[in-house]
Amino acid sequence: MEPLTPPQPVAEAAIRIDSHLSGTGQRTLADDVLDGLTRPFKELPPKHFYDARGAELFDRICELPEYYPTRAERAILTERAGDLAQLTDAVELVELGSGTAAKTRVLLDALDQAGTLARYVPMDVTERMVRDCAEELTEEYPGLQVHGVIGDFERHLGRIPQAAGRRVVAFLGGTIGNFPPGSRRRILREIAALLGPDDHLLMGTDLVKDPRVLEAAYDDDQGLTAEFNRNVLLVLNRELDAEFDPEDFDHVALFDSQHEWIEMRLRARREHTAMVRALDLPVHFDAGEEMRTEISAKFTRERLEADLHAAGLELVSWLTDPEALFALTLSRPASGTDESTGSGDAR
Ligand code: SAH
Ligand code: TRP
Repeated sequence: MEPLTPPQPVAEAAIRIDSHLSGTGQRTLADDVLDGLTRPFKELPPKHFYDARGAELFDRICELPEYYPTRAERAILTERAGDLAQLTDAVELVELGSGTAAKTRVLLDALDQAGTLARYVPMDVTERMVRDCAEELTEEYPGLQVHGVIGDFERHLGRIPQAAGRRVVAFLGGTIGNFPPGSRRRILREIAALLGPDDHLLMGTDLVKDPRVLEAAYDDDQGLTAEFNRNVLLVLNRELDAEFDPEDFDHVALFDSQHEWIEMRLRARREHTAMVRALDLPVHFDAGEEMRTEISAKFTRERLEADLHAAGLELVSWLTDPEALFALTLSRPASGTDESTGSGDAR
């Protein structure tokens, strides 16, 4: 007998995952350590925080009373997702540093209701997060295609698949603020290259405010942020056979009012040398020496518009929460002939 309904496509067909990291992950970490820990002022890039434990700690940070950015960004999204769906008419949502895509669901709901959404393209350096999020979202949104990209948005933006239609690139959580001004503009220019004339960038940025509020957000009472910061040492121990003792370091978070960014550091409690065996590299710390592990830039509307402009983008909407703690901005490729690059004061 003929079946009444044609066979349903199997769930797997909705998911495709590309990985651009296999084998190179450790090498990048090794290069970053060799480069960063032999400088006069030691420094590590932030992307190495997010192993399984780091990702879990970050999720818990997002729930802390002191860490307002996640709540503020979610509030803006909840309030404005319908408008954003209308304005962008997006068929495809690309998300950079997608993590668990917790807030993204608000946007996916609105695009889904508008009936335009066909594909979600999450990109993250953490393989597990891309895979889990693809599984969950294809279940939650029947018919949605998820094309996950395991990769580094500083190096692999060119591997984002060809647009399936009108596209929104989401870059949430203030992650763009984790890059110093020059790199920030370079990344924004590369993101702009992913956009056609009808496409948009939706970006979350934390705003300048009372330093006490800012510092508390990066140095909570429970010590979760301290644990997250020190976790990067455990990543080095595991991946590069290093011998850091997290107990040898204090967590430091301070607002640099000249640059208007939060700086996160690990301060050596005593003079010591830690061996990084995979690199045959002894790393010496003086007592009290500080190593920078992250910056988190805080924005004003002027700073953000200057950065967008330098990347060939123009602001469409500036959305904030009632207390103006955080901003969500929608921008698009600038119209007109002004092919400006890097103009203006990058701070
Ligand atoms: N977008 C989520 C998560 C923010 S945490 C939110 O708003 O809550 C930052 C995320 O970006 C982490 O999942 C981390 O793994 C990822 N990430 C950091 N640096 C990256 C890089 N260079 N390339 C790709 N993903 C990166
Ligand atoms: N993008 C987040 C931010 O700048 C990342 C972050 C939040 C973070 N808290 C942290 C990074 C603590 C390191 C340590 O707000």
